[in-house]
Amino acid sequence: MFDIVTKSAAGLAVLLLGAGLAAAEARLDPMQALAGRPAGSNPLDPTTAIGAKVDAGAARAGNEEFGGLPDGEGAEDTYYQCVACHSTEIIKQQRVTDHRWDELWTWMVEAQGMVEPEPETKALILTYLKTNFSSER
Ligand code: HEC
Repeated sequence: MFDIVTKSAAGLAVLLLGAGLAAAEARLDPMQALAGRPAGSNPLDPTTAIGAKVDAGAARAGNEEFGGLPDGEGAEDTYYQCVACHSTEIIKQQRVTDHRWDELWTWMVEAQGMVEPEPETKALILTYLKTNFSSER
């Protein structure tokens, strides 16, 4: 009797262990986190990955979801307002003054027929453009 209980318990333990291993396999390789550790840090110290810098190149590439526009307040509104007519490339290559952004906005509305959004959305988008694609800052 005891023998059966012990055997089935052992069988259950093996099953659980198997499930645990399968779950562990699906997880990300923990060593990947260490790949970005700062130069000269102790490779045996697992906490160095926490202090590792985010890849600056990836951050500059912008948000894929919004045509590569850099993340920030207004990125999503800018994307939907502007890609109705052209890609975000034409925006991303700009480095102009605040005044020029105001002019471009007016030109887009008056000459190209861009639909004016709500005033708050317009302000949000212009602030986003002036912040991210500026020759002044
Ligand atoms: C109604 C259509 C339309 C919308 C919406 C629109 N544009 Fe344009 N935009 C144009 C056209 C047309 C051009 C000229 C394209 C060309 O020269 O090939 C242009 C050109 C530009 C240029 C280049 C100007 C230059 O100096 O050559 C910039 C910058 C620009 N748009 C920014 C924006 C931004 C930012 C938005 C969103 C706020 C936007 N556009 C929304 C139609 C539009």
